[in-house]
Amino acid sequence: MRVDPVPMLEGHVAVPGDKSISHRAVLVGSLCGGETRVSGFGRSADTEATIEAARMLGVEVDEHDVDTLTIHASGLSGLREPSDPIDCGNAGTLMRLLAGILAGQAGRFELAGDESLSVRPMERIAEPLRRMGALVETVDGHAPLVIEGGALSAIDYELPVPSAQVKSAVLLAGLFAEGKTTVVEPLPTRDHTERLLERAGARVTRRPKSVSIDGAEELALDEIEIPGDFSSAAPFLVAAAIVPGSALTVHGVGLNPRRIGLLDVLERMGARVAIYNRRLVGGEPAGDVEMRASELVGASVSAAEVPLLIDELPLLALAACQAHGDTVVRGAGELRVKESDRIESVVEELRRIGGHIRATRDGFRVRGVPTRLRGGIVDSRGDHRLAMLGAIAGVSSQEGVELRGPDAVGTSFPGFFEVLRQLVPDALHYPPAT
Ligand code: S3P
Repeated sequence: MRVDPVPMLEGHVAVPGDKSISHRAVLVGSLCGGETRVSGFGRSADTEATIEAARMLGVEVDEHDVDTLTIHASGLSGLREPSDPIDCGNAGTLMRLLAGILAGQAGRFELAGDESLSVRPMERIAEPLRRMGALVETVDGHAPLVIEGGALSAIDYELPVPSAQVKSAVLLAGLFAEGKTTVVEPLPTRDHTERLLERAGARVTRRPKSVSIDGAEELALDEIEIPGDFSSAAPFLVAAAIVPGSALTVHGVGLNPRRIGLLDVLERMGARVAIYNRRLVGGEPAGDVEMRASELVGASVSAAEVPLLIDELPLLALAACQAHGDTVVRGAGELRVKESDRIESVVEELRRIGGHIRATRDGFRVRGVPTRLRGGIVDSRGDHRLAMLGAIAGVSSQEGVELRGPDAVGTSFPGFFEVLRQLVPDALHYPPAT
C-alpha cells in the first residue's frame, strides 16, 4: 500500500471499543452466572479469538451486531474441557488471562498461538499459577501451554515485570482460590481487570502498589459498555500533533489514567491537547480528545512512565523524530517481547525513512530534526502497531511511505485505513488487484 503525504489532518473520528476491555468483558462474562450484554465491543482478530475461545469452552455468545454481543454463561465453574486446543492467534492478552481462568477449572486445556505468540514469554504466568496449585506446562517457557486446573490456594505475588497481563492472570485465578490473593505491582499497570471484576461483584481491595481479590462464589455483569480504544486513537492523535496545521478530535475514547501516558508525554513536548465531555463509560473514564499541531520538543520518558504508554511508544518515537532536540526512553525492555521486538523494529523502520533514532538495551534515543521525515519503505513485520506507525509516518513524511504488510492492522483495528481515509481521502493507494 502506498501512503502519500498530506498537507494536514482535520476532522472528527471515532474508534472501535478498547481491545483490552473487550477481551476482559468476554472472559469475565464467561464466568458470570447468566447473561452479559456487551456494547461497544472492539471487534478485531484478537478479540474474535476470545469469542471463539469462550465458545470452545461451552459458553454461548450471540453476536447481534459488529459491536454488540450477549454472553450466556453458567457461573464460575461452568467452563467445559474442549476436545481440541484453543487457538489464541496473535493475542497475548487472551492467552495469559485465559490461563489464569483455566487454572481454576476442572479439566485439561491446551492453549496454542501463532508464530509470534509462540515465541513470547509465558513462564511469567506459568510460575505464579503453579504456585497457586495449577499444573501448567510450557515448551521452554513458551506456548503451547497445557493447563490442568484444580483447587487453588491464594498467594501474595510481586510482579517481576510490570505487566497487566500477568497481574490479571493471577487475579483471575484468585477468584477460584481459597483466601485472599494479592498482587504487588511496583509500577502501576492498566487496571481494567480490577475495575471489571469489582463491577461484577468480586471483592477487590486496591492499594497504591497492590491489589487483592477474595475467592468468589458468583459474578454478574449484566451489561457492559466499552469505550473507544485509546491505543487505536493514538495514531490519529500523533498524526495531528506532528503534521503542521492539523486539528483533529477523536470522540468517545477511554481515558483510563493508566493508559494515557502518551498524552502526558506529548503535552510535555509541547502538544496542544484538550479533552471534552469527560464521562464514565462502563466504569472507565472516557472523553473526546482534541489534538492540534504544534512544534514539539524532545522529552525524557522514565521506566515508571513506560507501562502507561507501552503500546504507544512506537508512535512516540515517530513524534520524537520530528521534535526539536533529543528524546530518551528508558526502562522499556518489555517492548522486546511484544508482537515483534518493538525496539528493533521501530528503530530499523524509522531509520529507513530518515529518522535519527538508535536502540538501547531497554529503549531508544532519538535526535529530533523538526522537519518531515523523508519517507520510503516501512515493513509492518506482521505487527499491527508497526503497520499503523508506517501509515502515520507516510502521511507526515515528505515523499510518502510504501507500507508493506498493512493487513497486520487487523489484529487490533481492522477498520484503521477506513478511518484514516475519512480524514485524508486521497492519501491511501492500494496496489491494483492482480
Ligand atoms: C495488555 C497489557 C500490556 C499491553 C498489551 C495489552 C492488557 O501487555 O502491551 O497490548 O490488555 O492487559 P503487558 O501486560 O505484557 O505489559
